[in-house]
Amino acid sequence: MLPQSRSLAVRAVEACGAYTLLRLRRDGADAGVPGQFFMLRAAPAPADAYLSRPISAAWADDDELAFLLDVRGPGTRALTAGGAVEVLGPLGHGFELAPGPALLVGGGIGAAILPWLVRLLPEARVLLGFRTDAHAVCAALVHPDATVVVEPELVTEPLARLLPGFEGTVYACGPDAMLGAVAALAAEHGVACQLAMEAAMACGFGACHGCAVKIDGRWKRLCVEGPVLEASRAVA
Ligand SMILES: Cc1cc2nc3c(=O)[nH]c(=O)nc-3n(C[C@H](O)[C@H](O)[C@H](O)COP(=O)(O)OP(=O)(O)OC[C@H]3O[C@@H](n4cnc5c(N)ncnc54)[C@H](O)[C@@H]3O)c2cc1C
Ligand code: FES
Repeated sequence: MLPQSRSLAVRAVEACGAYTLLRLRRDGADAGVPGQFFMLRAAPAPADAYLSRPISAAWADDDELAFLLDVRGPGTRALTAGGAVEVLGPLGHGFELAPGPALLVGGGIGAAILPWLVRLLPEARVLLGFRTDAHAVCAALVHPDATVVVEPELVTEPLARLLPGFEGTVYACGPDAMLGAVAALAAEHGVACQLAMEAAMACGFGACHGCAVKIDGRWKRLCVEGPVLEASRAVA
């Protein structure tokens, strides 16, 4: 069954370093779980941003749904300009919380989905990597004690130091190259690893096949199978 689409009022649009925090009045909407995503469209939508854009929630409170945005083009720009947002979701599969220690790894705007996960895994160790200090400002939203690195240092460097002997689960979100490196390190140390992946998405619920990526060695729809996958499925 197709999830409900509804219009939620914009409560605030706030700069967060190089990113933008979009806070919507939740108004009873189903928030899903961390790692799931929503198709968002400004209401009313401008002509150059008619299609919804896939975005995962940064957190959900009783009365608020928040999204951290890397404003890249017309879709994300329109979301920060209007008084309301059309919200379809929650969609896809989010993180599956495993017992035991947790290591959360975020790269760039991939950090956006971690504040909510931190609330559910308060003992987790958090590693974040960014391109510039301005991008790293959002680390404060994720965890006050996060290990934060800025290029040229890569987030996989502190991860490589922590993984030997680590008995727990790695939860990661970031650019493809970073996720590939995280998956390889986790496999090398026999550590369970879940990756929140990205692909361009037109519908978000399995109808357009536009989001096909290699999963289990075959082309499959990321919006249906993921966007969170066991690392072994994504690199098979
Ligand atoms: C499941 C999922 C969750 C996401 N969560 C977030 C989030 O929390 N915050 C956030 O800011 N973004 C998130 N994204 C990415 C976001 O959907 C895209 O950046 C957005 O659709 C771009 O739309 P636009 O109209 O602003 O830019 P466009 O004009 O459509 O694109 C601008 C530039 O970004 C590139 N681009 C577009 N989509 C992607 C993508 N998915 N990955 C990499 N490059 C892309 C385009 O090739 C182009 O160069 C998520 C994507 C997915 C699939
Ligand atoms: S976005 Fe349409 S099938 Fe996945």
